[in-house]
Amino acid sequence: MTIRLGVNIDHVATLRQARGEDYPSVVEAARVVLENGADQITIHLREDRRHIQDIDVEAVQLVTKRYGKPLNLEMGCNKEIIDIAVATGPEWICLVPEKREEKTTEGGLDLIGEANNAKVRETCAYLKEKIPGTKISLFLEADIHTLVKASEMNIDAVEIHTGDYARAFLQGEDIEKYLTQYKAAQEFLLSKKINCHAGHGLTLESVCPLLSNNLFEEYNIGHWIICQALFEGLGSVTDKFKKLFANYTY
Ligand code: PXP
Repeated sequence: MTIRLGVNIDHVATLRQARGEDYPSVVEAARVVLENGADQITIHLREDRRHIQDIDVEAVQLVTKRYGKPLNLEMGCNKEIIDIAVATGPEWICLVPEKREEKTTEGGLDLIGEANNAKVRETCAYLKEKIPGTKISLFLEADIHTLVKASEMNIDAVEIHTGDYARAFLQGEDIEKYLTQYKAAQEFLLSKKINCHAGHGLTLESVCPLLSNNLFEEYNIGHWIICQALFEGLGSVTDKFKKLFANYTY
């Protein structure tokens, strides 16, 4: 089975929102990554709309549909966002915890606390009823108690939070304990016929041990790809300006 890459383009919208201009365009970003082989576009419509806006969801979906690729909408269990998801009907929804004060999603959903568990369970059931064609994944820690709770819900996949692993990798710490946890998570999820995805904090280097240990069938990667794209393009754009300026004198 080929391994899928979902590219999260939220931070193209972050740059756009920082200037309040119409560029950079998330639609163009979606087109470029799909043109270059990405298997899915991932966007997170946050309650505070700090990057992706409501109008982007529909606009990006037009691009994914044109390429015949899935749109994966990340979202919290929030009524207003759930309504947008139902109206959009993306191929995938990834439910995540969301706190306004956080810089980014900081960890997996809490399914152990009864109130949270009920909220996630009810959201899954509601989404499955309203948009039955949409697959659901839950963003979770590789914790067996949490995964057992997840397996009792109507879901198609679990996306394992790899943020702590990715940080440990970058800092040169021992990553074995994460690989062991991910293997156990994978074995459990596959025994329940739940697909195994991964995401958060991954880079071109830190994804390698996960790939070579054959742990996940899908990876959703955003921040590092957008950051690295700056450096792979910055020289070329500077050069374009200098070539243009060379045609003129002052
Ligand atoms: N998966 C989920 C559920 C996320 O919340 C995020 C961040 O929006 C990602 C993947 C991508 O993480 P990163 O931008 O760190 O690659």
